[in-house]
Amino acid sequence: MFDTPPSVMWWNGRLVPWAAATVHVTSEVATRGTNVFEGLRAYWQPGERRHAVVHLDAHLERLAQSARLIRLPEAATAEHIALLRTGVGELVRAIGAAQDLYLRPTLYIEQGRYGWRPEKVKLGSYIAGYPADPTPTRPMDCIVSSWRRTPDTAVSPLIKVGAAYQAFRLPRIEAEVQGADEAILLNTRDTVAETGGAAVFLVRSGTVVTPPLADGVLDSITRRTVIGLLRTSIGLPVIERSIPRSELYIADEAFLCGTLDEVRAIGTIDGLSMAAAPGPVTAAVRDAYLAACREGKDGGPASLHLIDTLEAHRATA
Ligand SMILES: Cc1ncc(COP(=O)(O)O)c(C=O)c1O
Repeated sequence: MFDTPPSVMWWNGRLVPWAAATVHVTSEVATRGTNVFEGLRAYWQPGERRHAVVHLDAHLERLAQSARLIRLPEAATAEHIALLRTGVGELVRAIGAAQDLYLRPTLYIEQGRYGWRPEKVKLGSYIAGYPADPTPTRPMDCIVSSWRRTPDTAVSPLIKVGAAYQAFRLPRIEAEVQGADEAILLNTRDTVAETGGAAVFLVRSGTVVTPPLADGVLDSITRRTVIGLLRTSIGLPVIERSIPRSELYIADEAFLCGTLDEVRAIGTIDGLSMAAAPGPVTAAVRDAYLAACREGKDGGPASLHLIDTLEAHRATA
């Protein structure tokens, strides 16, 4: 979906042609990757003729937290986030009806070397939006990477800052070289953390297990939603605890979840096949998650509390 950008994007408060949104090659964002960002999905709801932007509030709240954690100036951050909130609706309407979209609201430092003092820093913001590909249903082949997730004492996993994603470059290459789809990273204490874009869940004898935030995972919004769905709609216990590497290989089922991946079964890890892929729990949680995203109605009964921050953008078409 990223190969074919649409003609329009949103930049510093207005819609602009895609090619117009540029910064200098020596800018702070280009040099040190000083940008905080979110990945959002807007699901097209044909019956309602509108897009449902899943958990917009939660994503913008996390964007503000990322900005705070890398010390972006507070007042300017708040101004840009208010603009971004409106910008999401403007861009969704501009890109058009009848398709699912993936959106990247981003806040960046244009000028100011390692800048943090408000008078020294110039912030910019943009939203890039792409028609979303349907998520593949094929179970994923994963490896456990030889690279580690950065600890909270380096660049915290709680911060979605562009520069931090360099730590996923080599794991992704490692996976590709080994013919796999995705790399699972361990943390510096050698227990399971996450992938470069998704939380890891295992199912063991009817209990669902996922690493806690303290084990080096992003506070994933899909992770929170999936935990809620499992406990309420599906009625299974979910335990947040450390997972030793070997437990990956003996789980009944394993799946990844994140905004981009939605809920995806893991088929193999380091060449060992999972007992079931997708297993019954993975299938149930995937169905429940996608139904909540597609059918959620502004926090109404159909969505339980899952899409309570859903923002609806009616199509103009
Ligand atoms: C490192 C990392 N982990 C997990 C996730 C999943 O987070 P979310 O469910 O909020 O999309 C993402 C995606 O943003 C990510 O970049």
